[in-house]
Amino acid sequence: MEAATFAEPRELLAEGRKILSKSHTPALDAEILLAHALGISREKLLLNAPSRMGDSAVQLFKNFLERRKKSEPVAYITGKKDFYESTFRVNGSVLIPRPETELLVETVLDMFADEPMRLLDVGAGSGCIPISLALERPRWRITAVDISSYALETAMENGKMLDAANVEFIQSDFFDSVEGRFDVIVSNPPYIDERERDFIMPDVRDYEPPEALFAENGGLGAIEKLLEESPRYLNPGGAFLCEIGAGQKEAVRGMIDSRIWKTVSFLDDLAGHPRLLIAGLK
Ligand SMILES: C[S@@+](CC[C@H](N)C(=O)[O-])C[C@H]1O[C@@H](n2cnc3c(N)ncnc32)[C@H](O)[C@@H]1O
Repeated sequence: MEAATFAEPRELLAEGRKILSKSHTPALDAEILLAHALGISREKLLLNAPSRMGDSAVQLFKNFLERRKKSEPVAYITGKKDFYESTFRVNGSVLIPRPETELLVETVLDMFADEPMRLLDVGAGSGCIPISLALERPRWRITAVDISSYALETAMENGKMLDAANVEFIQSDFFDSVEGRFDVIVSNPPYIDERERDFIMPDVRDYEPPEALFAENGGLGAIEKLLEESPRYLNPGGAFLCEIGAGQKEAVRGMIDSRIWKTVSFLDDLAGHPRLLIAGLK
């Protein structure tokens, strides 16, 4: 690519779309990456783009296009992702927050007001769930755990950046380092069947952390463990909310012990897939 032929943002965008034609969203990807190279928002790029671009921004954009062409997710290239009401820093040690996970956040906020209570998030990743909740409910005491120290570093950075004072982050394999009992436990655990590794999109498989994606027992291992162990960490009458894979509802229902759980329901995501388990302890 010759820099001179790409000096106009409009032309660069057209070229970017062509280069990224194998992506599901070539136009959107090119817009986000060009805006990032220019250090402006996508909205500004679309409404009021500069008429020319300097060589260094052009080179940066070309480098971003090359990375994206090799399937690197846009969010890892820009280092950020919007989730619920905030923008989170992301990198290869955390799962990129997904829009369907906002259902978990919205449901917890609908169910519980800003009264003092304790909430635990198992598998914090970028911290998108506990931090979004903390910012809306400053009176809650929130504990967020993850097995990955690298993920926790990013989650803590996000907590600081977004001023979420009421979240503590702890490294823990499930509940191993968790103390006390909670009113609510939430989780978006890994739930992809390890045997599907070769069939999932390279953007996910080759870039996102495997411990955030895959679980044993056909993808159900982590959910099963959470259902088994969370009663020991919940107060009587407490709630467990867990994101599940699109086709896992019946298998998950089959794991629920009605001697332990009083109420069980599932909510669909915007695409109509059962996505969220809500279980109430006796
Ligand atoms: C699907 S990601 C969810 C991340 C984040 N909560 C989100 O919704 O974007 C699952 C997270 O669980 C963590 N994890 C996996 N196994 C774990 C374990 N045994 N104990 C604690 N965390 C675990 C992973 O490191 C990863 O950050």
